Amino acid sequence: MLRLGSYRRAQEMRAIIALCAMVVAAVQAEAGSQLWRVEAPSYHRVVRALEDDGDVDVWAGTADHCKVLVEGSASTRVVRALAEADIGHSVEVEDMMALVEQERTHMQERRRKRAAQPMDWTSYHDMDDIEGFIGWLNSTGGDLVQVASPTRSVEGREVLVLRINDPSSQGVKKKKIWIEGGIHAREWISPAVSTFLMYQLVTNPEWRDLLKVTEWYIVPVANPDGYQFSFSSQSARLWRKNRRDNGVSERCKGVDLNRNWDFKWGVGASANPCSETYKGVNAFSEPETFGLQQMMRTIPDIDLFITFHSFGQTVLYPWGWTRNAPSNAMQLKRLAKAFTDTVKQTSLGKVDYDIGGSGPLYGLASGATDDWAYGELGIPFSYTIELPDQGTHGFLLPENRVSSTVIESAAGVHCMVSLLANSGSCARRRTRNPSSIRFRG
Ligand SMILES: *[C@@H]1O[C@H](CO)[C@@H](O)[C@H](O)[C@H]1NC(C)=O
Repeated sequence: MLRLGSYRRAQEMRAIIALCAMVVAAVQAEAGSQLWRVEAPSYHRVVRALEDDGDVDVWAGTADHCKVLVEGSASTRVVRALAEADIGHSVEVEDMMALVEQERTHMQERRRKRAAQPMDWTSYHDMDDIEGFIGWLNSTGGDLVQVASPTRSVEGREVLVLRINDPSSQGVKKKKIWIEGGIHAREWISPAVSTFLMYQLVTNPEWRDLLKVTEWYIVPVANPDGYQFSFSSQSARLWRKNRRDNGVSERCKGVDLNRNWDFKWGVGASANPCSETYKGVNAFSEPETFGLQQMMRTIPDIDLFITFHSFGQTVLYPWGWTRNAPSNAMQLKRLAKAFTDTVKQTSLGKVDYDIGGSGPLYGLASGATDDWAYGELGIPFSYTIELPDQGTHGFLLPENRVSSTVIESAAGVHCMVSLLANSGSCARRRTRNPSSIRFRG
């Protein structure tokens, strides 16, 4: 009897604990998106499984912890999975949407203060502004500039590529550089850096020497649908993928374009359309990636490929699909260091980057542009540059950081390319940063 009694009490206790857990879970479920610190690396089996299921969105990580976005509706499942594996976690940002709202209010205030909508690098710009700017560069740049539109997005937007080449310098074997920006929608600082590079190349006399020995292809926004969508509302601000309808639900739209390239496709990517790292139904299933690779293939011997992402302040080189180092890892590191040293110097020591292999640092993932550029096209220098910051603001890097970030990054790229093309030194160079360019009206 006694035994049974204590058994009953234990049962009751368990029921009460379960009830409390349910109440806690219900409270958590009412909260919106939260940023959690999880005491396991992003490539831990449990974290990977949660990501595959679309329950967490991995934002950053090191070898001992990672930061994940958890939606209220998934938090119960995530808590349970982490508890079962004895992995600790804590909430870092209680209400992510409040931060998004702050950013939006701030942006709206700035916009009200400006009459026209010129291009600048003190704020973020949507597709309309960027397309207008490309039109302006095309008409201002004369024969330095050509605009190509190799493909249209799922929703029919043009994916624009700017070719910048000085036709007056012939007979030189020019180094060819392909820059990709904006393949992940929410990483707004990436199109900012890409458009700023275009601006320097076309208008800055101090870059003219470099342009005599180089030829550039710049895709400022590889994912125009997703990028535009991320400007459309607060709840869309953290969108990552393109806007493919996967036939599941609104929430489960999109393919991760940086897992859709045809090189070791599928390694460390999800087959679940609801996951942030959904690889698509097959490699190059998406018109954005398919069209860009077609154009890249028509350009023989590209020397340098860079894709700009955020966040993390890290220069990553291949491979992403394996932890093994590629054969020219030493040279890859050397050129990466040219970027990071220059950024550090330009920022007067404030912005410090890490350098490393993508697989070893971030965990295995493939179907990304950099591995394809390196492994399939044979581009010897291929990088993913994770722009600032290191996680304080993450994807919501404030607009007052845009101008310094684009200036430092452009200086870094200038130095890399100077070394590659054996042209000049990496001395500090003035970048043009007028408060605004009027290209309309
Ligand atoms: C670029 O300019 C040329 C004329 O210089 C024009 O024919 C072409 O349509 C322009 N392209 C774009 C995308 O604006």
